[in-house]
Amino acid sequence: MTDKRRILVTAALPYANGSIHLGHMLEYIQTDIWARFQRARGHEVWFAWADDAHGTPIMLHAEKQGKTPEALIEAMHAEHLRDFDDFGLSYDNFASTHSETNRGLVERIWQGLNDGGAVSSREIEQFFDPERGMFLPDRFIRGSCPKCGAEDQYGDSCEVCGATYNPTELVEPRSVISGARPIMKTTEHFFVTLEKFRDSLKGWVRSGALQDEVANKLEEWFGERLRDWDVTRDAPYFGFAIPGHPDKFFYVWLDAPVGYLASFAEICQREGLDFEEWVRPDSPTEMHHFIGKDIIYFHCLFWPAMLEGAGLRRPTAVHAHGFLTVNGAKMSKSRGTFIKARTWLDELHPDTLRYYFAAKLGSGLADIDLNLDDFRARVNADLVGKLVNIASRSAGFIQKLGDGRLAAALPDPDLYQRFVDSHEAIAADFESRNYQFAIRRIMALADEANRYIDEHKPWVLAKEEGKSADVLAVCTQGINLFRVMMTWLAPVIPRTAAAAAEFLNTSLDDFDAIGEPLLDHALNKFKPLLRRVEPEQIERVLTASRESLAATSAPATAAAETPAKAAAKEETDMIEFPEFARVDLRVARIVKAEEVEGADKLLRLELDIGTETRQVFAGIRGHYDPAELEGRLTVMVANLAPRKMRFGLSEGMVLAASEDGGKPYLLSPDSGASPGMKVS
Ligand code: 2FM
Ligand code: ZN
Repeated sequence: MTDKRRILVTAALPYANGSIHLGHMLEYIQTDIWARFQRARGHEVWFAWADDAHGTPIMLHAEKQGKTPEALIEAMHAEHLRDFDDFGLSYDNFASTHSETNRGLVERIWQGLNDGGAVSSREIEQFFDPERGMFLPDRFIRGSCPKCGAEDQYGDSCEVCGATYNPTELVEPRSVISGARPIMKTTEHFFVTLEKFRDSLKGWVRSGALQDEVANKLEEWFGERLRDWDVTRDAPYFGFAIPGHPDKFFYVWLDAPVGYLASFAEICQREGLDFEEWVRPDSPTEMHHFIGKDIIYFHCLFWPAMLEGAGLRRPTAVHAHGFLTVNGAKMSKSRGTFIKARTWLDELHPDTLRYYFAAKLGSGLADIDLNLDDFRARVNADLVGKLVNIASRSAGFIQKLGDGRLAAALPDPDLYQRFVDSHEAIAADFESRNYQFAIRRIMALADEANRYIDEHKPWVLAKEEGKSADVLAVCTQGINLFRVMMTWLAPVIPRTAAAAAEFLNTSLDDFDAIGEPLLDHALNKFKPLLRRVEPEQIERVLTASRESLAATSAPATAAAETPAKAAAKEETDMIEFPEFARVDLRVARIVKAEEVEGADKLLRLELDIGTETRQVFAGIRGHYDPAELEGRLTVMVANLAPRKMRFGLSEGMVLAASEDGGKPYLLSPDSGASPGMKVS
C-alpha cells in the first residue's frame, strides 16, 4: 500500500426544508463511493456533512407550517438521516449548520476576514415589503419583465425571454410573501472584498484542485473585477447574527460551507483528532468537496477566499458533477420522474441505484441520465445475471460436495492472477472518479468468470462418477473470482457486499486482501443476494411520485437561495425532441420597425411570414436603427401564444443571440431563404 493519506470528504449540504430526491442522491452516492473506496485502500477518511439550515426560504417554510424554524429543521434532519442510512451512505457525522460549533467557526472566520481588512460596509437600496416588514431577496419579488413585458416573472430573470435584470427594473413589482407593492429602503450591508484574494485564488485555481472545465470557467470570471460579496441579510432572518449587529445576519451562503468544518470539528471532538492540524494552511491532510456544477462559484471563489482570509487551509480539490435527468429530461412532477429518495427505497434496493449511477459517472461535468428501462436492463444483466450468478451457481456444489468448504488450491491460478492484475487500473478509475470505467473493467471480468464456469460445466461434471473434486475446484475458482469482484464493488454496492461477505465468511472491505485467494475456507449458507428489478416496481415508483408530489408541490416561498438546483426544477431547460418539434420557427421579413412610445427597450416589428403579417414587440431598441431593420430577414417563433402587452398584442417572438442581457444579435438565414420557410 502507498502512504496512508488523511482525507476529509464532504458532499454539498442539503437544504433543511425539503425531502431528498434522486438529484441529491447522485452526488451523495458519488461521494460515498469515493469515501468507501479510500477507506478500502487503507486511508484515513472522514466524511463530514450536515443539513444547510438557514435562510429566508426555511424561515418562511416553517412559518407556513406553523412551526418554529428549529422544529422544522429538526424534523427534516431526522427524515434526511433515515434516507441516507437506508441508501447506505457511510458519513461519519451528519450535523446541522444551525449549531454552536458552526456559529463559533463562522465568527472565527469573520474575525479573520475583518482583521485582514477584507470586509467593508456600505449602504444599499433594496426592496422592502412594508406589510411583512422585511427586505425581499430577488426571488421573493415578482412582476412584469422589463424586456418583454411578460407578467409574473421573478425579480432576477424572465422565464419567457430569458432576460436577467435587477429587481428594481421589474414593472409593477409585488412581494411574493404578502402581495404588497415593495418600497425601496436603505440598509447597511457588509461585503467581503473578493478582489483582495484574486492573485492567490488564481494560483489555487491552476494548482490541480479543479477540473479543467471548472478552472476555465473561473478564468473567465477573473477576466473582470471580482464583485464584492454581500454577506449580510437584515432581520427577520433565520441564521447567525453578525457579532455586534443584532439586527443583521450572515447570509446563509456564508455559514453553509463553514458547516463542513463544523461537522468535522464534531468528529474531531468525538474521535480525539486535532482539528487545528487539519485546518492549518500547511496541513498534510486533504480536504475534498463534492458539489453540483450550479454551486461552483460559491465553492471555488467565496469559500477559498473565506478560508484564506481566516488563515486556514484551502480545499485540496473541489469535484463538480453534472445534473441528473430522468428518461432524458429534467425530473418532472407530471411524468412522475421527480422521485424522492424514500419513494425509491419503498420499492427498490438502494444498491441498484448506486450501481447504475456508478456505471454512468465520469470525472467531468456532463449530466447523467437515469433511463429507467436501461436501468432495469443493466442492473438485471450485470448485477443479477453476471455477478451474483457466479456465486449462486457455485455455492450449491460447494455446500453439497465440500460440505461448504472451499478446495485447498485453485485449478487456474493464472486466471485468478489476471483478475488481481486489474487491481491498480480499477483503483485508478475510482480515484479519478471515473467509476464508469471501473465498472466496465469489472463487468468484462465477470464475463470472463462466467465463461470459465460455462466451459467447465460443473453441473455436468457433478453427474459423473468420481468428479467431485473437480467440481469443487471449478466452483472454488468461481467463488474466488466472485470475491475479487465483490471487493472492488463493495464501495458501490455496500449492502450487497455485506451480504456477500456474510456468505463468504470473510470481510470485503480491504482492497489489498485480494492478493491471496480464499482456500480451504468454510463458507456460510448462500442466500439470494439481489433480486431482479421488475417493470412493475418502476411503474409503482412513477405512480407514487406523481401522487406524492402533486399533493406537495413546492410553494413559491420555498424557493432556494441560489438558482434552484436544476435537478429539482421541473422541465425547464431539457426538452424531448417532440417538444422541440412543436416550436414553429419561420423565416420572417421585417416589413416595418418602429420605436414604442413609453417603452425604452422595445421596438414594434411587423413581420411577413409568407401567409400573413404579424406584430411582435422585441426588446432590441437602442441596439438597432429601426429604419435599417426594414427589409431584413430574421427568424421568428410563429406559434408562441399571443401575449397582451401594454402597447398591443405581441404575436410571436424574434430570435436574437446575446450574452447575459448584453447587446442582442438578431438571427438571419443565409441568402436565398424567403419569408415563411420553416426552420428546423
Ligand atoms: O445548493 C444547495 O443545495 C446548498 N444547500 C448547498 C450548500 S453546500 C455548502 F456550501 F454548504
Ligand atoms: Zn421577458
